Amino acid sequence: MAEPKTNELMETLASLCKRRGFIFQSSEIYGGLNGFWDYGPLGTELKRNIKEQWWRSMTLLREGVVGLDASIIMHPRVWEASGHTSTFSDLMVDCLLTKKRFRADQIESQSGTAYFYTGAADAAAGKESKDTFSVLIETGKHPGYAREVARQFYQQRGLNEPVLEGERSEPVQNTVRYNPENGSLLTEPRPFNLMLKTCVGPVESADNVSYLRPETAQAIFVQFKNVLEVSRQKIPFGICQIGKAFRNEINPRNFTFRSREFEQMELEFFIRPDEAVEAICGRVAKPPGPGHPGEPQPDWGWQLWHQYWVEERLRFYESIGLPRASLVEYWQKPEELAHYARATVDVLYKFPFGKRGQNGELLGEELEGIAARGDFDLSQHQQFAGRPMSVLDEELKAAWPRLDPAKQAELSERFFQSRLKGLLTAGHNPGVAEKQARQDAEGLAKGHYIPHVIEPSAGVDRLALALICEAYSQDQAPDEKGRLETRVVMRFHPRIAPIKAAVFPLLKNKPELVQKAKEVRSLLRPHMSVFYDEAGAIGRRYRRQDEAGTPFGVTIDFDTLGEKGPELKDTVTLRDRDTMKQDRVRIADLVPMLTARIR
Ligand code: GAP
Repeated sequence: MAEPKTNELMETLASLCKRRGFIFQSSEIYGGLNGFWDYGPLGTELKRNIKEQWWRSMTLLREGVVGLDASIIMHPRVWEASGHTSTFSDLMVDCLLTKKRFRADQIESQSGTAYFYTGAADAAAGKESKDTFSVLIETGKHPGYAREVARQFYQQRGLNEPVLEGERSEPVQNTVRYNPENGSLLTEPRPFNLMLKTCVGPVESADNVSYLRPETAQAIFVQFKNVLEVSRQKIPFGICQIGKAFRNEINPRNFTFRSREFEQMELEFFIRPDEAVEAICGRVAKPPGPGHPGEPQPDWGWQLWHQYWVEERLRFYESIGLPRASLVEYWQKPEELAHYARATVDVLYKFPFGKRGQNGELLGEELEGIAARGDFDLSQHQQFAGRPMSVLDEELKAAWPRLDPAKQAELSERFFQSRLKGLLTAGHNPGVAEKQARQDAEGLAKGHYIPHVIEPSAGVDRLALALICEAYSQDQAPDEKGRLETRVVMRFHPRIAPIKAAVFPLLKNKPELVQKAKEVRSLLRPHMSVFYDEAGAIGRRYRRQDEAGTPFGVTIDFDTLGEKGPELKDTVTLRDRDTMKQDRVRIADLVPMLTARIR
């Protein structure tokens, strides 16, 4: 029942995005390219603000996180080490009739009557096909439909007038083997690697195949040692990056939600293994309970660091206008976890589309994943590149000899077991893994270890879409003649609103008003994005900015010029987008007043 409404809402949003210049289809004049999008003037500002807020919250406002801006194409061995070459794939199925491709996990389960055919013959043409085929139709629907679909299938095999052979039917429950759009049988699921390939250099050959990065994270791991050295950081510390990523998604959908080119904002936060924390602090703190665990402490192990980042990220989303109630914190079940992950929390946003619960309620779709990845990534790059990725932790080196021998032995053994498990999970040969894990345990006693990682990984485009969905609203507002009309308002948080303030002279044919308005625009411009508009009735101009999501409207009228007395001279009306309330404000107060609200 709710689905058509949902689609309608997404269609309304997509059309608003196009009309107002948030998002356009890529290459639209050539018919578009599925899974690729362009951001127009408002969308560009929105994305810039999202990235700026993320960068501020991840680096500028905290200690111990530095940035990286790495290339999109990297050495192909990077993707072997990370596992993307062998395992970064989705299962796909093709419709046997239309060849349309689907992600296997996106086929909805269906029930009905399946019609099976052993082949078909065209006696007049002397041709036959022994390909088997099957069609699912609703129980009770005329079998003629199934036969028509089957005939099309055999026509594609060169039979002009196919006579179907061996028809039989049976009821089928909860199957995902048929195309929900036409009932045709699908191919068996098979893996499809999602990395987009290219060739580097003038010769196209298997030797110079490279990939557009499917995530920004790997560059951070690969540059970990360089960044550590130049930034003079100590564990725990983080490296973050914002940049493009590419995935050849089988079925891009839900507007920009699943695209083939998108931007990620990723932090790799490097922490001590728990055994090192215990050696230094005498214990590893236990999570005190749900919620934010407070300021980081030296005795935090991976669990507390993970919890800390989940809560920090939720706070971030709230700070830019996604209320807590619109978000879902989803803890992946053990069977859902990637093989290297100890825990992963997905932050879901309740988009108007996506999975629904038993009562039709929206369950949300992923905005961000926060994974505790152990030492998998650095360990893999150490192995594949043959370069050490371990660090020397002076505190650990000093603390270890002070431990009593029984504690040393216990921590060494635990560390050995944990390394061994990691290496075996990553597919290393047991003999080699055991030798390596033993060496690493000896290294721990001298203060060396490969850092563990907590990774909050978010998508810029998904967040932009969530903010657009959240901002969209309609209310009633009086028009020029005082009649109520429907107003479309994008209620963006001022921090991420594409345009912060619109400046309007009340009338465009009064040079004194226009001149003053332009002065106000120049005053605000160095501090925020400003839009100047003198065209049309003031009410229409307000509406246009409401739809663009501009939180503040500044109107220059005759009072500003002092025509109603000196006390109002150099004051303007400041209109609030959401309440439509207008206040009289001194021009001199505008900058501090507005900057306080947009920061
Ligand atoms: N380094 C970990 C990683 O890449 P992921 O869950 O595959 O993890 C992280 O991706 C985030 O990137 C997702 O939560 C989502 O916001 C964004 N993302 C992933 N695939 C996307 C796609 N096809 N289109 C838009 N955003 C995508």
